[in-house]
Amino acid sequence: MIIVVFFIILQKFWMKMKNVYIETYGCQMNQADSGIVAKVLKENNFNLVSTDKQADVILINTCAVRDNAEKRIHNRVHDLQSLKKKKPYLQIGILGCMAERLKESLVKEDKVDIVAGPDSYRKIAELIDNATKQYKQKHDLKHFEQSIDVELSKEETYEDIIPIELNTDGISAFISIMRGCENFCSYCVVPYTRGRERSRSYQSIVEQAENLFLQGYKDITLLGQNVNSYIYEENGEKINFAKLIEKVAQVNPLLRVRFATSHPKDISEELIDTIAKYDNICKYIHLPVQSGSNRMLEKMNRKYTVEDYKQKIEMIRKKIPDCALSTDVIAGFCSETIEDHRATMDIMSWVGYDSAYMFKYSERPGTLAAKKFDDDVSEEEKIRRLNEIIDLQRELSLQSNRKDIGKTFEVLVEGMSKRDENKYFGRTSQNKVVIFDKQNTRKGDYIKVKIDDCTSATLFGSIC
Ligand code: 5AD
Ligand code: SF4
Repeated sequence: MIIVVFFIILQKFWMKMKNVYIETYGCQMNQADSGIVAKVLKENNFNLVSTDKQADVILINTCAVRDNAEKRIHNRVHDLQSLKKKKPYLQIGILGCMAERLKESLVKEDKVDIVAGPDSYRKIAELIDNATKQYKQKHDLKHFEQSIDVELSKEETYEDIIPIELNTDGISAFISIMRGCENFCSYCVVPYTRGRERSRSYQSIVEQAENLFLQGYKDITLLGQNVNSYIYEENGEKINFAKLIEKVAQVNPLLRVRFATSHPKDISEELIDTIAKYDNICKYIHLPVQSGSNRMLEKMNRKYTVEDYKQKIEMIRKKIPDCALSTDVIAGFCSETIEDHRATMDIMSWVGYDSAYMFKYSERPGTLAAKKFDDDVSEEEKIRRLNEIIDLQRELSLQSNRKDIGKTFEVLVEGMSKRDENKYFGRTSQNKVVIFDKQNTRKGDYIKVKIDDCTSATLFGSIC
């Protein structure tokens, strides 16, 4: 009897003390999610390791927004299969949006061992254990369903799980405040892979911000697909995003607060007023326009017009004159003409964005656009338009940075410059990267820096 119990304990121990390596692709939300997965694993006695070489299990947290993001993951899994030849017990898991989209085909076609959608992370330890059992049963495919979980939830927010900060600089951290998206932009796969919109309790968010500040973090970003639709109701009290960010800003004036992403149709005057009111809410708004053509915006189901968008920008400029603005732009969406493309370049110039994330349209199976519209702009033309957009943005960023020369900014010191170990880099409230001489500063300090020079991507300055 004693021997049997000892054997069971030994077996459990052996099954669980595995080395797990988590690899993250895609958006900031995925980085925050990997921290949740890490926490669940740690609580279940798995060992987190920092290289794939040490791993018994490699979990890849994935993005499905564009086809090239998915291709990269398929290639990575393919490369890992050769590692499996040397290390047959190695398990490969796919997490996140690609897991949700491709489900069991990842097991059948890519030969991965574990598939966990964005709402299945509480079960990750169980899924790894099930995959281990299958391995021991010589890949009995009858059981492979047991290591797949892609059930989407209407409630899951993981609010009680305090994530582990992975790959951290000890200064900046993300807090996921809500999950899912219900906007159904016609090109976008996210509403299908991340499910219904749901908000975390504001208490748990404020508590996480307080804990991060106590650990020395100075810059946090509140994350959601559309943070402006954050809403949490308790005992008749309704907390919207403006109220939430105010509560987080009040944690400490030395804690910088940022947020991403805002949908132009939902950004409110109350939020702009709150950003203006608090010095520690960063003067930087990411407000994706996607296109400058009303015909495209309607086809994209964005629910605003160029005129509505411009009004929001004017309101921001009036209330927060030093606010930096960035955007997402898609080139070559279905039926986009040269005039539509020019309209996108026009709105970019009109706003004078400080930075932008620019993409060529990638058709995603299952979306409204894939079902209803022809992906009729040729690949060549998409690339040509995208390059025009990138060139324009480079010029706009340079113009914006040149305007900063001679001005002094408060900069949070974030780390050593990659190119010169005698220099540090930090960011302004406007999210611009500044390089300066180290002198007596330390990571985490707030310092005043006067800007002397710039490129389109970076400011260079001297400490005042
Ligand atoms: N093709 C290209 N870009 C896309 N995005 C979302 N879906 C697609 C797609 N199918 C872009 C949008 C969004 C950003 C996160 O990714 O610009 O704001
Ligand atoms: Fe996708 Fe639109 Fe939701 Fe953003 S708001 S995640 S682009 S559906």
